[in-house]
Amino acid sequence: MKTTVYIITLLLFVSCQQKKKEEPEGAITKVDYLKESRADFDKRMAWWRDARFGMFIHWGAYAVPAGVHNGEETEFIAEWIMNSARIPITEYEDYVRQFDPQQFDADRWMQLASEAGMKYLVITSKHHDGFCLWDSKVSGYDIMDFSPYKKDVLKALSAACKKYGIRFGLYHSIMDWHHPDAQSINEPHYWNFEGGNKINPRFPEYLEDYLKPQLKELVEAYDPDILWFDGEWVDDYTHEQGQALYQYVRELKPEIIINNRVDKGRQGMQGMNAEGNFAGDFGTPEQEILATTSDFDWESCMTMNDTWGYDQTDENWKSTAQLLHNLVDVTAKGGNYLLNIGPTAEGVIPEASVVRLQEIGKWLKTSGEAVYGTQRLEKGYRQPDSLLYTRKKGSDTFYAIQMAELPPTITLENLLGNENTTISLLANQEISLEWTISENGKITIERPGDLDLSSWDNTKAWAFRVENAKEKL
Ligand code: GLC
Repeated sequence: MKTTVYIITLLLFVSCQQKKKEEPEGAITKVDYLKESRADFDKRMAWWRDARFGMFIHWGAYAVPAGVHNGEETEFIAEWIMNSARIPITEYEDYVRQFDPQQFDADRWMQLASEAGMKYLVITSKHHDGFCLWDSKVSGYDIMDFSPYKKDVLKALSAACKKYGIRFGLYHSIMDWHHPDAQSINEPHYWNFEGGNKINPRFPEYLEDYLKPQLKELVEAYDPDILWFDGEWVDDYTHEQGQALYQYVRELKPEIIINNRVDKGRQGMQGMNAEGNFAGDFGTPEQEILATTSDFDWESCMTMNDTWGYDQTDENWKSTAQLLHNLVDVTAKGGNYLLNIGPTAEGVIPEASVVRLQEIGKWLKTSGEAVYGTQRLEKGYRQPDSLLYTRKKGSDTFYAIQMAELPPTITLENLLGNENTTISLLANQEISLEWTISENGKITIERPGDLDLSSWDNTKAWAFRVENAKEKL
């Protein structure tokens, strides 16, 4: 009897010990997000890849001077005015004290984004000037504590996004000209493009005690779908810190999507990563579109004029046709398009932006299926001079988009048709089209005689849906 009890106790002890070894009490299995499988990555990126078109908003206290400080126009982009006009912190804080956007209406803004056919938003929670658009617990330099407005802008916008089915994203600057531990120590709060920016020995403290707690606040309070970092180029910030920050944010919200500016891989304005193991889910070409396709996901961000933040002196607006052609070009190459608006300090979106967004939206309403949920062709996404192609994901439906005046006939060199092929013009599906298919499968579409060509004058983009076809490889 004694021996049996002894043996049972021994067995129990051994099994407990084994269990302990496998699962030490209280330990959480840590997922290494830098080693995500391709399948998990594809799953996480699926909505973003289908979305194609997003709204970027640069908004903050720089909208008060709006490109002009002490009567002098600054040459550089308006949100950089603190740096380019060498405005001392205390003086810049006066602009923050004047930031009181009484006309801000989150619902109207997101209604416009929705009308424009935009599927996600990325708004500056904090730009390089350090001013925060929400009630940050680790900072007094925010919209509740420092500006007279005292309403949480991010709260209103994230709620409006939910209402309109728009995904919510945040731009957050790593560089910070206001925080004492983030400024380069030789020339407080300025960034010098020519170099000579001295490392601040307290930068790691800024990361741990300020930036990370802010990100935690943002993820917990506003449940963003995207974190869009910037200002990663400061010398103080390292590749290791970038990887750790990526891991940190994914731990806060595993399904979140993070741009490549979280790490140090980005190569200039072209925005794609150098060779190496860099963190980040997508590349960020800035003010440019990749010349061709890429196997690394990417998103081109662009302004409608020449500035991100509102600039009262900049009227150099791109045409609606140009902006829409960019969207189609990016889509055909497999990327996303993040188009910027810079609202005024009162909270008004410039009329020139509103008009363009509405015109793009009007086109997308009828022809959007050539953009959303598409994949790029294997080879022939472009046909010189003015045709671009996309394909409805995983199907034999293709789209050919004529990016100029519609000529009397169009030959689709990159597709192969057959007797089951059907074609329609997305802008007007009532019109029955005529086409011919040659013996080798070449499709030629006739321009319909009863088409009102002027109706699409300001976009110059005609999307054809070609069903039951193949890509010519
Ligand atoms: C930049 C600029 C900036 C802008 C951004 C948009 O790197 O510093 O002001 O926010 O890129 O991509």
